[in-house]
Amino acid sequence: LNHKTISVMGFSLFEFKLKSLEHSYTLQSNTDHLSMSLNGKWRLSNSNASLSLPAQVPGCVHSALQQQGYVPDPYFRFNDVSYRWIAFDNWTYTTTFTVSPEIKQKVLLMFDGVDTVGSISLNGIAVGKTDNMFCRYDFSVRDLLKDGDNVLQVVLLSPVLYASERRKAHSSYRIPPECPPDVQKGECHVNFIRKEQSSFSWDWGPSFPTMGLWKGVQLEAFDVLQLIQVSSVPFYSTCSQWRMQVELHIDAVQTAHGQITLSIPELDSEQTFQMQFLPGKTKSNFTLFINTVQLKLWWPNGYGEQPFYRLTVRGFQDGFLIFNTQSKVYFRTVELIQEPIVGSPGLSFYFRINGKPVFLKGSNWIPAHSFQDQVTSDNLLQSAVDANMNALRVWGGGVYEQDLFYDICDELGIMVWQDFMFACATYPTEADFIQTVREEVVQQVQRLKSHPSIIIWSGNNENEAALATDWFNIPASQRLTYIKDYVMLYVNNIKKIVQEDQSRPFLVSSPTNGAESEQEGWVAENPYDPHYGDVHFYSYILDCWDWRTFPRTRFASEYGFQSWPSFSTLQPVSVKEDWSYDSNFTSHRQHHEDGNQQMIQQAALHFHLPNATDPLKRFTDTLYITQVMQAQCVKTQTEFYRRSRSEIIEGKGHTMGALYWQLNDIWQAPSWSSIEFGGKWKMLHYFARSFFAAVLPVAFEEDDTLFIYAISDLSRDLKLRAVVSVFSWTDLNPVCTLSSDMLLVPEGSAVAIFKQPVATLLAGCGNCTRLTCLLTFHLEDNSSQQGPTNHHFLCSPKDAQGLHRPNITENKIGFTVTLHSDSVAPFVWLDVGNIPGRFSSNGFLMVSRNRTVGFNVWRPTSVAELTASLTVTSLRDIY
Ligand SMILES: *[C@@H]1O[C@H](CO)[C@@H](O)[C@H](O)[C@H]1NC(C)=O
Ligand SMILES: *[C@@H]1O[C@H](CO)[C@@H](O)[C@H](O)[C@H]1NC(C)=O
Ligand SMILES: *[C@@H]1O[C@H](CO)[C@@H](O)[C@H](O)[C@H]1NC(C)=O
Ligand SMILES: *[C@@H]1O[C@H](CO)[C@@H](O)[C@H](O)[C@H]1NC(C)=O
Ligand SMILES: *[C@@H]1O[C@H](CO)[C@@H](O)[C@H](O)[C@H]1NC(C)=O
Ligand SMILES: *[C@@H]1O[C@H](CO)[C@@H](O)[C@H](O)[C@H]1NC(C)=O
Ligand SMILES: *[C@@H]1O[C@H](CO)[C@@H](O)[C@H](O)[C@H]1NC(C)=O
Ligand SMILES: *[C@@H]1O[C@H](CO)[C@@H](O)[C@H](O)[C@H]1NC(C)=O
Ligand SMILES: *[C@@H]1O[C@H](CO)[C@@H](O)[C@H](O)[C@H]1NC(C)=O
Repeated sequence: LNHKTISVMGFSLFEFKLKSLEHSYTLQSNTDHLSMSLNGKWRLSNSNASLSLPAQVPGCVHSALQQQGYVPDPYFRFNDVSYRWIAFDNWTYTTTFTVSPEIKQKVLLMFDGVDTVGSISLNGIAVGKTDNMFCRYDFSVRDLLKDGDNVLQVVLLSPVLYASERRKAHSSYRIPPECPPDVQKGECHVNFIRKEQSSFSWDWGPSFPTMGLWKGVQLEAFDVLQLIQVSSVPFYSTCSQWRMQVELHIDAVQTAHGQITLSIPELDSEQTFQMQFLPGKTKSNFTLFINTVQLKLWWPNGYGEQPFYRLTVRGFQDGFLIFNTQSKVYFRTVELIQEPIVGSPGLSFYFRINGKPVFLKGSNWIPAHSFQDQVTSDNLLQSAVDANMNALRVWGGGVYEQDLFYDICDELGIMVWQDFMFACATYPTEADFIQTVREEVVQQVQRLKSHPSIIIWSGNNENEAALATDWFNIPASQRLTYIKDYVMLYVNNIKKIVQEDQSRPFLVSSPTNGAESEQEGWVAENPYDPHYGDVHFYSYILDCWDWRTFPRTRFASEYGFQSWPSFSTLQPVSVKEDWSYDSNFTSHRQHHEDGNQQMIQQAALHFHLPNATDPLKRFTDTLYITQVMQAQCVKTQTEFYRRSRSEIIEGKGHTMGALYWQLNDIWQAPSWSSIEFGGKWKMLHYFARSFFAAVLPVAFEEDDTLFIYAISDLSRDLKLRAVVSVFSWTDLNPVCTLSSDMLLVPEGSAVAIFKQPVATLLAGCGNCTRLTCLLTFHLEDNSSQQGPTNHHFLCSPKDAQGLHRPNITENKIGFTVTLHSDSVAPFVWLDVGNIPGRFSSNGFLMVSRNRTVGFNVWRPTSVAELTASLTVTSLRDIY
């Protein structure tokens, strides 16, 4: 909860007078508690004062320099390297404001987020320091305020310099990795600073070690108390009873006697408590019992609605209302089930929401921009839901996202796997480091725990695996030191704090063996063991069309393949000489060693590579083929996980989660994302819309036998048959059509519905061979098709006989396009450049003469603009 509505009677009026309109004046009069925003235009200068410019707060140095024209687009071409100097300098933010002399009992100067190492002074007198981007800081400043102008200054130290000095001070042993790989062109020792870890570069992102006041700044003044935060967490107790645990975080001036009233009018629940306000900051717990049996529950996307109730919390002192807040509350339960499975060694690993096992379908979330003040919270979360996702993992190398992010997840039914912000590294455990982490964890849990969308906390990204499989060449003799540090940070400190929130599970790491890792002293011998917990799995060299290369895990929380964004996304940050696959630009933007070659090698396993003589066409065709490769690879892997839901094969299976890496991009560059920087869907995201559909047919081959599975995430049983159509590559009329018997597909299951040796199937179907024919298939009940139509290639398209260049023409009516094709066309791709929006489907296999797709616009556009921008590409157009 972050918006306070406070109305009070009976207290003296106090006013902040504003020097200018730059600082907005937000609070109602007639209240004990006043708040003055210090957001708006500040001054910014570097250490030697060679630069002095206006700067927006919230904001950062890079954004201010960009907005004032000192540095053009930091994302343009090689600017990440050209602007490296910014993060080596120290920067000072200054503002001036006026207050009236009539001061309240207590005045707090509050910073919602400082990035990162700051020294704050007011009227030349030091008020405090900051060293953690993820903490809110407040300072008591009543006695420093003066009548008239007050000067507030924040000096920010170069984060690169700070990290390096902390490293030097830690002389006893290494805290690896020292530096990122050269290919990332990043800065060193980011693990020594409590800051977005990917801001020093990542394998998908640039190095922009930001500095700034990245969240709001305000003065809070009060005579009695300030309500800092309210959190509320529902618990289900037996006998259909719920209790809402409400925690109030209060800063009071002096001891006072008061009452607290909690109520949820819609549920007829109200209760009043007597309480003592003690001076200083305190937390108090209250429990509201809810006796209504008929409560509407919050469900993940695809399982039901996301209804909420309104909780009112009122505080009184001597009969006067001193605060009155309202917040949304949602009711749901979550359990992480780790228990023995018949026929399988190890333990299950799945989530039960409101008692129902739920397969998590989704992706991983990274910071949406290098400069958090420029995040536009655009369509990314809606796009996740549009692709039938129900879960996102907020990955531990970024930031704890802003309140709005979790509000939207609550509203859309997106389950959040929330990492703490530690990734791919060891971390120091000096007392001051542990202390700042503890404060960070306390604050973040308090801020976020009211959100039903967060279904699990997780201590770090890949740090258990890093120790277990020795990423950092730690000598055996020192191993115990590192394990001790690991346990100290994530178990003895973070876990201990987080587990005070009993309303959702906590895992120490991801990937992890969960309960088994705990048995093994928190660092398992093999945290990637498919019999336990979650697994991250990447392989770029092995053939991704072969499902045998994937581990049959309980839960796949990371896996993926890279692709390039489309030309319209790259064009604004590049020039003509950059537009070839072997340009300096193309290798500069690739931060994953050998990434560009890996994409081409993987694509070459099944596709002809582009060979147009026109260099620009060859480049755009190459971007296209990387997206085709990625979409098909992630489809194969995800379908494998979904069909493994109900089976145990060779002791492995019961897979209950598929979160591919990664949803979004931080800049315009090759990455594992399914959505490009700016929001445009890659082919993979359109594929995800199908492969995450609630009802899905999946085909695969084993020993030359074709299997089709029917998968259903619905909460009711279905009776389905599979219908298989065999097409020749040369003809739009199916050669033959087969169908299975009707089969019961129970709720939440994957069952084999069709099985036939490929040779038998082809023999019964004209002159078909593996090279001349392909399959499409769907599921239907006795009246209609259920779920999308899927396809299965019997050979690599590069070997297909009879696949010729289709003559595809378009008819546009409004925002609808009808394509006409004279032959089979795989991976048909419609592109309208940078016009924001998405097609109803894209990247599809066209086996019909006509196909109509709609274009869903995200900003006003005209049919003429759309028509002028539309291009259509299919596989046969690139060679
Ligand atoms: C001041 O600092 C800037 C940025 O670090 C540097 O480029 C410039 O040379 C410095 N100027 C002087 C006079 O030292
Ligand atoms: C930044 O501040 C630190 C600490 O005061 C100092 O050592 C360093 O020289 C400063 N950097 C610049 C570019 O002035
Ligand atoms: C509030 O309840 C939580 C969870 O039961 C507990 O950990 C915490 O100590 C309580 N706080 C207070 C002030 O009682
Ligand atoms: C590419 O970068 C290299 C090394 O920086 C440079 O020598 C070369 O001239 C660049 N090539 C082009 C075409 O810009
Ligand atoms: C099989 O191929 C032969 C020779 O091309 C052709 O005459 C015949 O009609 C084909 N049969 C079917 C069922 O397509
Ligand atoms: C179709 O299936 C439903 C559910 O199994 C059944 O109620 C209905 O009678 C069936 N209709 C026909 C025409 O078979
Ligand atoms: C493509 O089809 C259209 C419409 O049927 C026709 O006018 C055109 O000549 C065809 N183009 C080619 C190259 O066959
Ligand atoms: C396909 O579209 C064309 C042109 O709109 C139309 O003449 C034809 O009947 C359509 N064919 C089918 C099979 O729908
Ligand atoms: C591109 O490759 C295809 C298939 O190998 C070949 O038929 C075509 O002639 C090649 N085109 C060029 C311009 O080399």
